[in-house]
Amino acid sequence: MHTFKSHPIIYHKHLDLNSMKELPESHAWLSPDHGSPSKASSNPDSVPVINLQDPNSMKLVGHACKTWGVFQITNHGVPANLLQDMESAGRKLFALPIQQKLKAARAPDGVSGYGVARISSFFPKLMWSEGFTIIGSVYEHARKLWPKSYTTFCNLIEEYNEEMNKLAEKLMSLMLGSLGVTMEDVQWANSNGSCPALQFNSYPACPDPERAMGLAAHTDSTLLTILHQNNTSGLQAHRDGPGWVTVPPIPGALVVNVGDLLHILSNGLYPSVLHRAVVNRTQHRLSIAYLYGPPSNVQISPLSKLTDQIHPPLFRPVTWSEYLGTKAKHFNKALSSVRLCAPLNGFVDSNDHNGVRVG
Ligand code: OGA
Ligand code: NI
Repeated sequence: MHTFKSHPIIYHKHLDLNSMKELPESHAWLSPDHGSPSKASSNPDSVPVINLQDPNSMKLVGHACKTWGVFQITNHGVPANLLQDMESAGRKLFALPIQQKLKAARAPDGVSGYGVARISSFFPKLMWSEGFTIIGSVYEHARKLWPKSYTTFCNLIEEYNEEMNKLAEKLMSLMLGSLGVTMEDVQWANSNGSCPALQFNSYPACPDPERAMGLAAHTDSTLLTILHQNNTSGLQAHRDGPGWVTVPPIPGALVVNVGDLLHILSNGLYPSVLHRAVVNRTQHRLSIAYLYGPPSNVQISPLSKLTDQIHPPLFRPVTWSEYLGTKAKHFNKALSSVRLCAPLNGFVDSNDHNGVRVG
């Protein structure tokens, strides 16, 4: 395993990808499981698109969670101009000179701020992306990026977080409702103690996309994640059968995926989905992920309504903060490390091989 200390290419960690004319060896992925991004199928088996105004939306959401773990939503109520403003803010942020961005660099043991993907330490090669993570107040970092004009950015982030929180709660009630569980069954659901994260990802155009990786395969350590992607493809979800399937950008739509904590809460009925981002030769790609979870110190365990003698709880209780720690250490083995029973005969847990996004 690579720790940052022993990482052989630590000095290239903050290469300015936006100006590279060739793929440096530090970023050249040759591992067989990289696959060929261009072969990812987008049809006929395509990621469900759900209109949240559809009277059937609860059923559709439940079905998508069971079978895909990822879906897109339209008519979600988030104003289009807010999504556009976030996208422009992201572009402005990543367009800053690298020295300026590094003023807001993530501390070695921290989570907030500018830097490479945090899962980088688990891979021998670096990813063709840069990120900016916001947990709690963005004020300190924003002030370093834009000493004179940080308030616009701070206000925008606050507004976006509010909208996303509303949407995440609505999605939770649809997801759980479809399993016959109400929000009242989940004591912590309306307790306001959640500490979500916001993750800006930038994938510059890449001189050798076939050998590069934007963001390596992982599952999110969340209940659910809501992703806004600009109109450039790159996100892929893994599905038994077809393998890597592109999640095509649809103007105005948002991508929702099931994270590990919902996998636990649903006792495996909603498996967290393995996903990754690939890059391309000509277009800069931007995405903004809202990482939604429970209050960080609440024990999350399979919902009692979903377990009985025939369906025993498959996972032990774990808090979000404990789970993040487990992931930071065990990476792709985190979910199985909180598993209680050995899988039943013939039951294949497709998530046992997962990579895991810490955060
Ligand atoms: C993430 C993620 C995918 C993308 O930030 O966890 O999976 O398309 N992003 O940027
Ligand atoms: Ni992710």
